[in-house]
Amino acid sequence: MSTETPNALLSRIVDDVAEHGWSVQPLFAPQALTLQLADECRTRAAQGALAPASVGRGRAQTLREGIRGDHIEWLEAGQSAACERYLRLLDELRVALNRGLYLGLEDYESHFALYPPGAFYRKHVDRFQDDDRRAVSVVLYLNADWQAEQGGALRLYLADGETRDVLPQAGCLAVFLSAEMPHEVLPATRERLSLTGWFRRRGAGVW
Ligand code: OGA
Ligand code: MN
Repeated sequence: MSTETPNALLSRIVDDVAEHGWSVQPLFAPQALTLQLADECRTRAAQGALAPASVGRGRAQTLREGIRGDHIEWLEAGQSAACERYLRLLDELRVALNRGLYLGLEDYESHFALYPPGAFYRKHVDRFQDDDRRAVSVVLYLNADWQAEQGGALRLYLADGETRDVLPQAGCLAVFLSAEMPHEVLPATRERLSLTGWFRRRGAGVW
């Protein structure tokens, strides 16, 4: 766990996003919470609750294993104590982003994601073409003792043409602007778990 006060951590994320459009915090979530979330994800997967993820939304939604190979389950409010605790942490982040950046973030949607060995998610942006509500993407990684040679990095394509690889290490949080940051998930040699979500604004014409 970080020795910083939570407020300092939140301020750093807000400052990073304001300056660069992204932030990576290796010690965002306490290890105990991360391990509980990983257990929950694995248990739900063993029960068959995770389904192959699709691409796009509404009628344009399709299953395309050549684009993404993860299995997901959307979080429901009140589904477990660990999820509730994580959602409370993220609500503090939502409020901090709104105070610092006037983003008008109203709600949050998220899913567990399990990438079997070899699965990937090709380069994409998270905002849908026909729905601009997704404003900030937030990924919490749930994998203890991840080694660089196991692959599975999140690769961010930065505005200056550089890339930044983020290992999916337990407790690490990646935050980035959904409409502006192309990114991909590289294949890994082991199962890769995360809790991936989006802060959303009120959209035009979709409510
Ligand atoms: C996504 C995504 C990144 C990751 O689900 O849209 O890009 O590192 N996930 O899991
Ligand atoms: Mn994405």
